[in-house]
Amino acid sequence: METNYESLISKSCKNIPKSFVREILSVCDKPEFISFAGGLPNPTYFPVEQMKEAFEKIMETDGKATMQYAESQGYYPLRQWICDWYNTKYNMQITPENILITNGSQQALDMTCKLFINSGEPLMMEKPSYLGAIQAFSAYRPEFHQIRLNNSGIDLNELENVVLKTGSRILYGIPNFQNPTGISYNHQTREDLAILLDWYGIMFIEDDPYNEIRFDGESLSPVYALNPLQTIWCGSFSKMVSPGIRAGWVCAPKELMPHLLRIKQAADLHTNNIVQRLIYRFLCDNDPNDHLFKVRQAYKTQKDCMIQAIQQHFPEEISYTDPEGGMFIWATLPSFLNSDKLVQEAIQEKVVFVPGRSFYTTNDGYQNMRLNYSNSSEEMIEEGIKRLGNLIKKAIIREKETKLISQTY
Ligand SMILES: Cc1ncc(COP(=O)(O)O)c(C=O)c1O
Repeated sequence: METNYESLISKSCKNIPKSFVREILSVCDKPEFISFAGGLPNPTYFPVEQMKEAFEKIMETDGKATMQYAESQGYYPLRQWICDWYNTKYNMQITPENILITNGSQQALDMTCKLFINSGEPLMMEKPSYLGAIQAFSAYRPEFHQIRLNNSGIDLNELENVVLKTGSRILYGIPNFQNPTGISYNHQTREDLAILLDWYGIMFIEDDPYNEIRFDGESLSPVYALNPLQTIWCGSFSKMVSPGIRAGWVCAPKELMPHLLRIKQAADLHTNNIVQRLIYRFLCDNDPNDHLFKVRQAYKTQKDCMIQAIQQHFPEEISYTDPEGGMFIWATLPSFLNSDKLVQEAIQEKVVFVPGRSFYTTNDGYQNMRLNYSNSSEEMIEEGIKRLGNLIKKAIIREKETKLISQTY
């Protein structure tokens, strides 16, 4: 009998939306394409030589332990390193008991949703939000409630209304250089949110993979530092060192750790032991600040270059964000244009971005474009934005002409 695979697929799996980014990467991963679509860190700054040295060292000194099964919570010295780094940076008192090492922060998102959400229960997030989080959370079939994101951060009035209306107790957000918008919560929003969490008994999943990629403005404390009992703070080495190593962490209240540990054990026993020891060796033998200094400088130059190109080549009807860190600019087209249609035309011109629709759980985002600047040279940014600008100008003229013709008849 022929197997009907489709009939075997679970509702959870069917509920996971496709990733435009991952699909488009395979189409546009050709040298002649200018891609503002992926969220890729700039490979120029990957510390390949230092990693090679660190690898040789761990194999020489501790090869057998490195290749053995290991603790589910993660390599203790690495957890201690994370505590030391952030305790110094934010004057906090986290300990290795608060930290669990994950397979990138993407796994942390999956784990936290598994921890809190039953099918059909409300889950709040920013509008728009990170596509990978929407994918991870969709497997648990929550009832999504997206909450407006202003220039100063999540709209706390709307948040309060949703909490009162739905009884939702779980909020996911990205306070630093949000993906896809580049927006950061200001200090007041962080403080007010910390109070709201307490007032309504809400748990905040604070996703913070871009923490170290601030290139402008002053560093702001994470919401975790303001309300550590009601926040799970997810960090990552992806943007700090390299995404291919797939290492991140959750920093959580100790009371939640036994539950997170069971989830981690059930998922994959523990994060790759070789990778954990490798990063630790790299972090000890090198000053991460040297590396981060170069990355921040480069991203600032790339971001400034993209902003300048937008100002020069995009029509003035287009609004856009100007982030202080991270990797993305969020542009908004006039309401009569459609970014899904625009991206198809852009692909013909060998330039690509992510249309906004991917970042919504509602039927929105048709006027938005996410533009990544971290993985393109200044020449590519200038040329790619010029091509997009020409397409947008043509589309505006076309739409205006169509409207004029329809008004005439
Ligand atoms: C907001 C956000 N969270 C999480 C992730 C996943 O990162 P990681 O590589 O640590 O799994 C990304 C990746 O781009 C992201 O943008």
